Amino acid sequence: MDFTLTEEHRMIQQAARDFAQTELLPGVIERDEKQQFPKKQIQQMGELGFMGMMVDPVYGGSGMDTLSYVLVMEELSKVDASSSVVVSVNNSLVCWGLETFGTEAQKEKYLKRLATGEIIGAFCLSEPEAGSDATSQKTTAIDKGDHYLLNGTKNWITNGASAEVYLVIAQTDVKKGHKGINALIVEKGMKGFELGPKEQKMGIRGSDTHSLMFTDVKVPKENRIGDDGFGFKFAMKTLAGGRIGIAAQALGIAAGAYELALEYSKVRKAFGTEICNHQAIAFKLADMHTQIQAARFMVYKSAVDKDQGNDYDLSGAMAKLYASQVAMETTVEAVQIHGGNGYVKEYHVERMMRDAKITQIYEGTSEIQKIVISRSILNK
Ligand code: CAA
Repeated sequence: MDFTLTEEHRMIQQAARDFAQTELLPGVIERDEKQQFPKKQIQQMGELGFMGMMVDPVYGGSGMDTLSYVLVMEELSKVDASSSVVVSVNNSLVCWGLETFGTEAQKEKYLKRLATGEIIGAFCLSEPEAGSDATSQKTTAIDKGDHYLLNGTKNWITNGASAEVYLVIAQTDVKKGHKGINALIVEKGMKGFELGPKEQKMGIRGSDTHSLMFTDVKVPKENRIGDDGFGFKFAMKTLAGGRIGIAAQALGIAAGAYELALEYSKVRKAFGTEICNHQAIAFKLADMHTQIQAARFMVYKSAVDKDQGNDYDLSGAMAKLYASQVAMETTVEAVQIHGGNGYVKEYHVERMMRDAKITQIYEGTSEIQKIVISRSILNK
């Protein structure tokens, strides 16, 4: 297998690296502290083509491959995971879902504006009792002929307040189980659609996460994605690709923390020498570097699987499981290497440690990834 990046891949990687340093790094601590959404930066990323990276240029996208997307996600996440999750949800869950399964009219009406970053989208599946157990959701979309009547509450929705377009997964016929679920396009401002309070989060605090309430929202039939009853499969297929994006985010958080720890260890002195000269620190760096490189190969492999039309459920789940574990372990070690400085905001690694945790939870917890992986290897 060839792991060499093409010239084009290196260029997009460099563009994301430059953007992260010049536009994301200044203010990242303040946005985290104030739970401030990176509005300006998202608009800039739209102009750079980062918001609809894999979308066909016909629909306003950049027409790039998944590997390019993963490279961008990695670079953005090295600096600011709050911004990169917005990019990830818009690209993987919203744009990909609409482009792959939407009607031509839906693509014209919604995808074009989403792919350019003019507006952003949200993916609404989780509920208080249905995060992992996605078939047990209580939100209903009752068939009323020319429209669905949507009722219920969704929780922990990324881009909750900032989105204009919401892909909402709801139960139409509970008797049919997962075959009675639909995915509907809901617009901000539809009557009966209300925003709940903003969540006060441990990490990725710059991204806005809300609950959403739907009370007798009339969603036109033409806003259903796919055939009647396709909603659960829509969610599963979309999340399978989303996991590659989050795996890349986890990889970036790990790599960003490692790079800071490495630099710090070369300048901070203790016992008469730079701390990197102590084996206790050097061995930590060796472990971190090795784990990150292994995670990187797994993440790139899952992206290439998707690009080559291979099955990526397994490689994506493995990449997310492993990269998120590496993100958690590496950021904890990065704080440790920084000592007391690691515990204060100025050095960034404490934020990265808080941000890392969510990668083991959203778009399927680590336990869910193990279900996907074990089912795959056991041919269930
Ligand atoms: N691709 C296509 N179809 C799939 C699929 C996939 N990846 N996974 C399952 N399906 C299909 C199955 O083939 C089956 O269809 P048939 O009956 O026609 O064969 C159907 O879906 C039901 O499958 P299962 O019986 O396997 O479903 P299950 O209820 O046992 O669930 C699960 C499996 C893997 C646990 C799944 O529920 C799951 O992935 N849960 C986690 C959901 C999740 O990631 N939630 C996070 C919220 S979103 C988020 O975090 C976004 C954000 O804001 C950042």
